[in-house]
Amino acid sequence: MTSSLTPLTQLAAWQALEAHHPKVRNLQLRKLFADDPGRGERMKAEAAGIYLDYSKHLVTDDTLALLLRLAEESGLRARIEAMFQGQRINVTENRAVLHVALRAPRGDVITVDGTDVVPQVHAVLDRMARFALQVRGGTWLGHTGRPVRNIVNIGIGGSDLGPVMAFEALRHYCQRDLTFRFVSNVDGTDFQEATWDLDPEETLFIVSSKTFTTLETMTNAGTAREWALARMKDPAAVARHFVAVSTNAEAVARFGIDTANMFEFWDWVGGRYSMTSAIGLSTMVAIGPEQFRAMLDGFHELDEHFRTAPFERNLPVLMALLAIWYGNFAGARTVAVLPYDQYLKRFPAYLQQLTMESNGKRVTLDGAEVAYQTSAVYWGEPGTNGQHSFYQLLHQGTQLVPCDFIAFGQSLNPLGRHHDVLMANVFAQAEALAFGKTANEVQAEGVPAWLVPHRTFPGNRPSSMLLLERLTPAALGKLVALYEHSVFTQGTILRLDSFDQWGVELGKALAGRILPELESRAPAPAAHDSSTNALVRRYLAGRR
Ligand code: F6P
Repeated sequence: MTSSLTPLTQLAAWQALEAHHPKVRNLQLRKLFADDPGRGERMKAEAAGIYLDYSKHLVTDDTLALLLRLAEESGLRARIEAMFQGQRINVTENRAVLHVALRAPRGDVITVDGTDVVPQVHAVLDRMARFALQVRGGTWLGHTGRPVRNIVNIGIGGSDLGPVMAFEALRHYCQRDLTFRFVSNVDGTDFQEATWDLDPEETLFIVSSKTFTTLETMTNAGTAREWALARMKDPAAVARHFVAVSTNAEAVARFGIDTANMFEFWDWVGGRYSMTSAIGLSTMVAIGPEQFRAMLDGFHELDEHFRTAPFERNLPVLMALLAIWYGNFAGARTVAVLPYDQYLKRFPAYLQQLTMESNGKRVTLDGAEVAYQTSAVYWGEPGTNGQHSFYQLLHQGTQLVPCDFIAFGQSLNPLGRHHDVLMANVFAQAEALAFGKTANEVQAEGVPAWLVPHRTFPGNRPSSMLLLERLTPAALGKLVALYEHSVFTQGTILRLDSFDQWGVELGKALAGRILPELESRAPAPAAHDSSTNALVRRYLAGRR
């Protein structure tokens, strides 16, 4: 790294960006496009079947050149290599970060501490495939001899969001005579509503937990076991109705699941980067091993692009640099992710963990407090639904919200005119955000003067457009990998450990202290601050 000891804000490129910002603060997209008719054709990048149009961003060629310099000065190239080579770049947990190995083709060599992990990855994938084919073929029989027809994934965070997002995204490819449910919340409602209509004799639980200690998952898994045994009575039924996905064989065995029914992964797979590990077991059962492999190939294609493409044509790098520009120079605090595909309805929720658990940090790798913005808040909803909800703020509110539009050229459900209507809307929204409608234009339509300000659109609101051909398993893999590597690039430039999540610990520990008070119905006098004490007392009074 050129300046590993130089604070980020002292890097020449950062300082040049600070000096550059006043010059471009008042850029107008209308003018940029008018002055440069080729802008929309020029400011695009295409790789692995993803077309990224970044012309509607508040940047000039100079801005981009400086951002690219920032990537170079941040040692991004070396850090990408460090990740791919299995170095322990997750320093606070002293772990390698090798989700890219999960989609490496058979025969590739990726070593962790001298061991090639690719054969292990494929051995687990092969076991998953055998299991998936049994369930899909109706030959995985439950304890009473009936084929399993319902699959319930129990997990939370990365052990839920990836599986549920992928299931929704790839529903089109799912075996429709199987039922899939996902239980994550410790709120009993989640389990109850997911299982109320299922027959335990035909239901299989996949207990997905990297650590196999997570309170929510263990609570739900315990309830699932009671639910299954209430019908089947015999503890031996657990072996046919529960499988585990974990790195913790001991805890799996302690729970009562035969480790022969455990699909393993490794500590070098972060929870939010785990959907291509055995955590994807429910996905593989749903879409079948072949389509799952196609999804892995999509991930791998984007991984290779990220590793090898020059930064100026590197999709994740470009997206990351724009994110850093808006977060640190243009004052944006959030990013809206707007997929124009109903199948991607859980994609924004998935991205929230990926982005914010990775880069929602306030100290650098060496523990120094940052003097800049780290992760934006990511949020979103599929279009066109969002248009009738929060787009009002996007168009006329006071905050700058860069948007990522995601759309597909072909529909998986080509009904009548639906797809053209959908696509007309996504293109129109990006156009409206960028170019708005001036007061003069509104006036010229005969709008009374008093109404003109209300009907004026300031425009100049930036967006990216990601266009793909069709939502296939491979396309989903590319899309997820694109964001994974964008997050990593942002974390690298911002000097963060994007792979730990210490920020979730305090709440867990405090819940562990409060729970005995609630369960014993005995508030510990003055155990907490006066507010928490009062809340505990009030809750317990209500329980009586
Ligand atoms: O919320 C913290 C976290 O550790 C996430 O990073 C992780 O995805 C989730 O909990 C679930 O963890 P596990 O898979 O170990 O149950």
